[in-house]
Amino acid sequence: TAVELGEHRHYMHKEIFEQPQSVIDTLEGRITQESVLTSAFGHQAETLFASISQIQIIACGTSYHAGMVAKYWFEDIIGLPCFIEVASEYRYRNPVLLSDTLFVTISQSGETADTLAALQQIKQKRDVKNLNCPTLSICNVPESSLTRESDLVFLTHAGPEVGVASTKAFTTQLVALSLLLTTLGKVQGRLTQKRERIIVQGLQKLPGLIRNALNHEDEIKEIAKRFADKSSALFLGRGTMYPIAMEAALKLKEISYIHAEAYPAGELKHGPLALIDEYMPVIAIAPHDDLLEKLKSNLQEVRARGGQMIVFEDENANTDSEGGMKVVKATTNVGRITAPITFNIPLQLLAYHVALIKGTDVDQPRNLAKSVTVE
Ligand code: G6P
Repeated sequence: TAVELGEHRHYMHKEIFEQPQSVIDTLEGRITQESVLTSAFGHQAETLFASISQIQIIACGTSYHAGMVAKYWFEDIIGLPCFIEVASEYRYRNPVLLSDTLFVTISQSGETADTLAALQQIKQKRDVKNLNCPTLSICNVPESSLTRESDLVFLTHAGPEVGVASTKAFTTQLVALSLLLTTLGKVQGRLTQKRERIIVQGLQKLPGLIRNALNHEDEIKEIAKRFADKSSALFLGRGTMYPIAMEAALKLKEISYIHAEAYPAGELKHGPLALIDEYMPVIAIAPHDDLLEKLKSNLQEVRARGGQMIVFEDENANTDSEGGMKVVKATTNVGRITAPITFNIPLQLLAYHVALIKGTDVDQPRNLAKSVTVE
């Protein structure tokens, strides 16, 4: 291929390590020291963004997980209702279109058949009923079907992604969504200048935070050995770490063929607790946030049943006060935007190193395609 592997054994590994640069490239020309440039979403953006009262996100796979993180952000940080659905469901259930909805499609390739069909259907319905439903696509490929069909386009500058399992595209999608959050918040008067400055400063720190997270690779290689003889794994998180747990489970199953499931930690008692024994690896994501104490009590429930706990935590989270867990101090002092982006990094490395041990075809996992252009 045209893209060189260099020192890396696989494209996935190369792409994981390119993430600091992908973030820099995606932010380039879109922010200043203190603010986001509204023009980042095109010259029509300001008018269209001012006219909407809710957001509907539609995507597939990893791109869907990026949208799920954004749903938490939009409602929590700027109080804008946000709905999200996988494209293959949305397009076939005859959904009701509400006027003043911003439709956001997220796609690395811009060619995913279901996402594209959902967008076409939305445009058709809106035109028949004459509704105000602007469309925005967040996409990594400039001349793609999705970008051609959308009113507004925001290009992620991840660079070409070769590995079937998406890594750097996901990270830049989250960056794009954080800029969308800030821009919508600003245009609609839902975000103070101070809040905007805090978000932008967080984004500027992000490449460094990702580099620090990548430095945990050796530690993660060791942890990966625990998965050599495993056939399933459970990932837990709360808040934005729930979609990050979903993404981590997807990465692990895609490339290592270990069955993995993600659960919101608060749902443990409603089923997955029955699966826990000394053979079940349970991976938890523990940022230092308002939900930490709740998460800790979930972890105790797992520990009490002999589950093999591996916790990726903020240095200040101290989840291990009672022992019996493997703890990776993945990051420190991350904010609400930077936390999910940063915690995802060591989980990508975990999936990668487990796949290496399992000896699978990391860049071309069986039965999967990079771009799903047929249903
Ligand atoms: C496939 C790829 C995934 C990707 C998904 C959506 O399943 O293997 O990595 O997340 O399609 O693709 P898109 O290009 O729309 O983001």
